[in-house]
Amino acid sequence: MKITIIGTGYVGLVTGACLAEVGHEVFCLDVDQRKIDILNNGGIPIHEPGLDQVVARNRAAGRLQFSTDIAASVAHGDVQFIAVGTPPDEDGSADLQYVVAAARNIGRHMTGYKVIVDKSTVPVGTAGKVAAAIANELKSRAVDIGFSVTSNPEFLKEGAAVKDFMEPDRIVIGHESDAEGLQAQAVMREVYASFEAAGRKIYWMDVRSAEFTKYAANAMLATRISFMNELANLADKVGVDIEAVRQGIGSDPRIGPSFLLAGCGYGGSCFPKDVQALSRTAQEYGHDLRILAAVEEVNELQKQVLGKKVHARFGTNLQGKRFALWGLAFKPDTDDMRAASSRVLINELLRAGARIAAYDPVAIEEAKRVLALDFADAPQLIEQIEFASDHMAALPGADALIIVTEWKLFREADVAQVRDQMNAAIIFDGRNLYEPAKLKALGIEYHAIGRAILTQNES
Ligand code: NAI
Repeated sequence: MKITIIGTGYVGLVTGACLAEVGHEVFCLDVDQRKIDILNNGGIPIHEPGLDQVVARNRAAGRLQFSTDIAASVAHGDVQFIAVGTPPDEDGSADLQYVVAAARNIGRHMTGYKVIVDKSTVPVGTAGKVAAAIANELKSRAVDIGFSVTSNPEFLKEGAAVKDFMEPDRIVIGHESDAEGLQAQAVMREVYASFEAAGRKIYWMDVRSAEFTKYAANAMLATRISFMNELANLADKVGVDIEAVRQGIGSDPRIGPSFLLAGCGYGGSCFPKDVQALSRTAQEYGHDLRILAAVEEVNELQKQVLGKKVHARFGTNLQGKRFALWGLAFKPDTDDMRAASSRVLINELLRAGARIAAYDPVAIEEAKRVLALDFADAPQLIEQIEFASDHMAALPGADALIIVTEWKLFREADVAQVRDQMNAAIIFDGRNLYEPAKLKALGIEYHAIGRAILTQNES
């Protein structure tokens, strides 16, 4: 099938490359010339394991092309996926300006029936707005061309995006129930035919329910994280090991083991903004979503937890202290720094007078870019952070190591060597990577999340 992807960012690029991989002819559009140039020169603008090979293979096979040509993009695809960003507006609601702009472009240039697919995460009712934007353009051109808007939210995880797209645990598609909607359903079935043939489950539903499903999924996951973080903080106080509790409850099939790890808060491009957007939708309908407000508040506090532990150990003034920092990205296997907990910690440490030697396997360049913005009011503080060439190189002279992102490299580090490289054998671990007993045996003072019962005697 001929498919156009509007917006070649994280989701658009992965969607386009993977749909080409299953045999479709895919045209990826973006307004960002830089991104398109990188892709046309054989590069990849984001870090995502395995994506480079899928892109290269399908470009070489002539099934995947990249362009900024809007008219050509509309002409190409019988199916037009909208995968542009939906960042939070000032009030927390999803900003739909890019989605609506994409829809207008379709309406402006289309000459035959199209199925439009909302792939971006969008609030309930957005398909109606997309349809209205297209209809307006068609009206001003005085033409009558059929189209149908469907909702196909994306559930991929950054860091495992290709695998998640190729082997999804479910595909959610919302379509209208009128004749054009049923025609669109048939088209969507064809788009995902190879997935269905491979036994992947498609959940067909109405458009509004599909739109809502994406927010419900992210809100549920964020809730689990905040819930465990809240329990971990209590565990520290009452003398309970949250890791033991996690295993004890995760083995219950009604609860399940995923997303129960306590840590220093969630970040990234999706959970924070989607939780906010769902809360905003609730407000618009006069419904007070109290659980989600708490989820957000708990998470904001949890991002401060490492800074608080450092202050509790070293005092409020950190002048003259030097910290090694492992992990900058909001999670492993990505260079995404959006809403990363590391930013809250760096802000706290630098403003309290500390120096930092930071390392992340892929996010250093992105960190430099976002930190320049975070410290726009105090650019001299940025000079107090240096970026190490590898994780061990961040350690010499450090008064403590602080771990923010659970990269495998950090989990597998030789902690005895880590101890020997630093000024003092102290580790603050925001991701509970190590066994407290092992670190205790090595004489390392260990501060983790919700494990004080196993670590408290050392400080
Ligand atoms: P992104 O910011 O990486 O990519 C969006 C792209 O759209 C950018 O390259 C931008 O230049 C382009 N764009 C904006 N307006 C355009 C237009 N009118 N025509 C053509 N291109 C245009 O965003 P990302 O992360 O891919 O997210 C896209 C949507 O997918 C969002 O709604 C997000 O919530 C959702 N999503 C993101 C996931 C993730 O892990 N990043 C996972 C699941 C959903």
